[in-house]
Amino acid sequence: MSTLEENAYRIQGGKTLRGEVTVSGAKNVVLKVLVAALLFEEPVVFTNVPVIRDILELTHLLEEAGVKVNYNGNHEIHVDPRGLHSHTVDLLHAAKIRVSFMLFAPFLVKFGKAVIPNPGGCRLGARPIDRQIELMNAFGVSTEYDSSTGYYTSTCTTKQLEGATYRFSKQTHTGTELGLLLAVRARGRSVIENAALEPEIDDLIDFLNTSGAAIHRQGSKIIVDGVPHLHSPKVPHRIVSDRNEVVTFACAALASKGDIMVRGAIAQQLTTFLEHIDAIGGKYAVSENGIRFWYESPLKAVSITTAPEPGFMTDWQAPWAVMMTQAEGVSSIHETIFENRFGYVSELRRLGAKIRFELPEVRDPYATYQFNIKKTAVLEKVLKKQMVTISGPTSLHGGVVNVTDLRAGATLVIAACIASGESVVNGVSIIERGYEHLENKLHVLGADIERV
Ligand code: EPU
Repeated sequence: MSTLEENAYRIQGGKTLRGEVTVSGAKNVVLKVLVAALLFEEPVVFTNVPVIRDILELTHLLEEAGVKVNYNGNHEIHVDPRGLHSHTVDLLHAAKIRVSFMLFAPFLVKFGKAVIPNPGGCRLGARPIDRQIELMNAFGVSTEYDSSTGYYTSTCTTKQLEGATYRFSKQTHTGTELGLLLAVRARGRSVIENAALEPEIDDLIDFLNTSGAAIHRQGSKIIVDGVPHLHSPKVPHRIVSDRNEVVTFACAALASKGDIMVRGAIAQQLTTFLEHIDAIGGKYAVSENGIRFWYESPLKAVSITTAPEPGFMTDWQAPWAVMMTQAEGVSSIHETIFENRFGYVSELRRLGAKIRFELPEVRDPYATYQFNIKKTAVLEKVLKKQMVTISGPTSLHGGVVNVTDLRAGATLVIAACIASGESVVNGVSIIERGYEHLENKLHVLGADIERV
């Protein structure tokens, strides 16, 4: 991990990326199972844990709350929740790690109370937790928000969480996961409707079920019969590989006219992405070891609209944009999940990308977008930040760019690898929040990249 002084990459571009890379464990799984481990009364072990900053932040928070964590650098983590003594998250930790709000579940189960500030994480929009608060309310939890301090105080109104039926007004990935963590130890049956469908959620379900939970998914309906105890699985739970990292390397392979074998990639989690790779004329081959992506002939411009699973995932659109700068024709990216996921656009322009905002045609913005739109909002103002068009192919050139969020950061690094000349990518500690040793992996693939 870098020090504050070493928070940039210097990249000599113009490289074709080729070779083999092994994908790490999924950030968006490991963070949730670590929180879930606090629902146990005994130690729990996870393997294939990525070495990323978000886990360091979360383990630090957990240790301060009395949990013993051994994160020994060999991709294994031991969590012993028996010493958990606090139901409070401080502002500093909450600002650094967004999933801190998921601690509502173990704190409420163990103490009947939770005091947690508004979450932080990547600034991809307002990212409120109104749906989560409403969900907790269904489980018999009353919540007060103090706007002067930014803290939520939640209290169980019953002796134990009560199983509930709750329907999300719009799907939410971490909201669904919070619902699972509440339901698994609640009294009686819970039913979560309009639950999100991301496979990362299913890995959390698998972990809980092998630990004694009774969770059944029927599409977007999840039925949970609460249990009094969870037991550490006999075989440590192995974190599934990170499909978002796979996509990053796939885009790097095709944008650089290269050839990358991504070991550990799971095709079933990437069906929609692979369909789009077919559509642009990119090549891939699925094997039992992973997926190989390679460039064979000029890429075609293809437009995408991000959508909740099983749609084209929001996390994939930034690396997709780099690929589209190299494709023939005009493509568009319409973002419907978050209201601020185009932080990389101005930065890509600095490297010569022809990318600009355009107004999408949307019949019903309130239904189309997953984020909340205030009834008083000027719709044109909202819409004109949600779509870009990209003209290609463009020869990118070197420049100085700044990382705005995790996926945008990885995108700028790929762009700098294929751009001619030298680039400096500033703020790479944000990339380390979710990518394990990105610079080492790219170096092995032929990138000329060093931390400065
Ligand atoms: N939303 C609300 N109110 C809520 C909950 C969500 O307005 O109470 C909005 C969000 O602001 C967003 C939309 O609904 O505009 C969808 O949000 P969702 O809750 O599904 O996203 P998330 O749980 O905050 C997770 C991942 C994201 C990933 C999305 C989509 C984690 C820690 N984060 O976010 O991953 O993009 O689901 O799958 O699991 C990343 O890894 O860089 C990342 C941002």
